[in-house]
Amino acid sequence: MSDTRPIGIFDSGIGGLTVLRAIHELLPAESIVYLGDTARVPYGTKSKETIIKYSVNNARFLLSQGVKMIVVACNTASAHALDDVVRLTDYPVIGVVEGGVIAALKKASVAIGVIGTEATIRSNKYPSEINRLHPGTKVISKACPLFVALAEEGWTDNEVAHAVTKEYLQEFKGKIDALVLGCTHYPPLKGVIQSVLGDGVRLIDSAEETARIVGERLTGLGLRANGSTRGKISLAVTDSPERSLEVGRRLLGENLEISGVTLVDII
Ligand code: DGL
Repeated sequence: MSDTRPIGIFDSGIGGLTVLRAIHELLPAESIVYLGDTARVPYGTKSKETIIKYSVNNARFLLSQGVKMIVVACNTASAHALDDVVRLTDYPVIGVVEGGVIAALKKASVAIGVIGTEATIRSNKYPSEINRLHPGTKVISKACPLFVALAEEGWTDNEVAHAVTKEYLQEFKGKIDALVLGCTHYPPLKGVIQSVLGDGVRLIDSAEETARIVGERLTGLGLRANGSTRGKISLAVTDSPERSLEVGRRLLGENLEISGVTLVDII
């Protein structure tokens, strides 16, 4: 039996395409409906109540599209609203914090650094999950809000990117051996982050680990799409489809196999 219903993914914007790409690469037969809430991005500066309201709204839209699973591909929403999304449905719901935590614990032996939006860091979700699974692990966290703008602008390897990264991450030097990129927008800045922190620090991008968890969960529940036909990818945003496609291409480079974006009104 092959379950060809799509996987639903949402993010506050288009940064979650990094998670879509990892899932599509690992599970090419799966169809995906992606929703980017570009009308209300950023979530990283908002209150918990607002993040919950928007996330529930996004999940309802995906459920109306007949999805068999929801992936919350936004660290801020995963940190604040995962339980609320879980309560909406009997289908599996997977956030990106779980994957980031598991991957970090596999790679760190001294201490783990976590960077993310203001709301993600304020939630304390990463340190508490890390310490739930591995009590006593030292975690240092820091909000790096300007990274989102740098990634969107495509400024991932210029002087400004280097200066901002140095300013934010100087205090991590020599203190950690793994750094969780706890925001969907940060993976394009991997190069500059690595050059500031040095090769001794492993950078953790939760996208790949999340894709692995998605595959495992679908298989365990008998929900996998099988066969050699590639799944269909549908992209929807709540504002500015043209700009979203442009920023998406900037974030993912030429690998983005997306032809068009639909504008949806879920507000
Ligand atoms: N998607 C958000 C996250 O991963 C970053 C952008 C925002 O602030 O909404 O935390």
